[in-house]
Amino acid sequence: MQKRMMKKKFKKKMTRLYDEYLSSDPYRPMIEYIKYNMNDKPLIGVEVGVSGGSHARNILKHLNVKHLYLIDPYDEFESYYFKKEYNNFKEQSSKKLHRHRDKITFIYKRSVDAKEDLPDAIDFVYLDGDHSYENVKKEIELFYPKMVEGGVLGGHDFRTDRSTPFGVIQAALEFSDKKNLHLWVGGNKGDWWCIKGDKKIKGVDP
Ligand SMILES: C[S@@+](CC[C@H](N)C(=O)[O-])C[C@H]1O[C@@H](n2cnc3c(N)ncnc32)[C@H](O)[C@@H]1O
Repeated sequence: MQKRMMKKKFKKKMTRLYDEYLSSDPYRPMIEYIKYNMNDKPLIGVEVGVSGGSHARNILKHLNVKHLYLIDPYDEFESYYFKKEYNNFKEQSSKKLHRHRDKITFIYKRSVDAKEDLPDAIDFVYLDGDHSYENVKKEIELFYPKMVEGGVLGGHDFRTDRSTPFGVIQAALEFSDKKNLHLWVGGNKGDWWCIKGDKKIKGVDP
């Protein structure tokens, strides 16, 4: 009995520490790029894949956000990716972001079904939901036309060190190539982003 209590306490402590680590996490490279290049205007943004809301909170903390749309269905994904004890992300995110409630809209849908819920003239989109090639490709196709010229489209996990099939690299490379856009990549967890209208740099891009 005592052992079980200790285990529970330990888990709770680890979850809290992880949460603190995430919120003290310096903002990710794409967000840093936006902060230093676009922050003089109030921004309309989208995060796809919100989970417990830690990264959304960082976005709201560091960027000049007018409104942030947060897309996450909070369904099947959790059941195969996360263990049961982490399964209250929907509650966590709404609690964590409560103080920003006037600036955020949760959309409890899959990204590819959320197009109609979004305004036109979006300044940035951060993709961190389903990382399969087919899905990321589709998300890019749906959201890019809704973005302003100079808007930033990108996301997380431009990397191959996971056992789950990550198609981010292929989708991002194909997109930047097709549109002749410079592809920015940074950070140890692989942020990637393209700027609408920012053409490839000769001698840098493939
Ligand atoms: C890696 S987590 C997101 C982490 C979050 N961006 C952060 O850094 O704090 C992935 C999330 O994407 C969501 N997700 C999975 N498939 C999705 C889809 N098709 N559309 C939107 N969200 C999706 C999952 O429910 C999960 O909460």
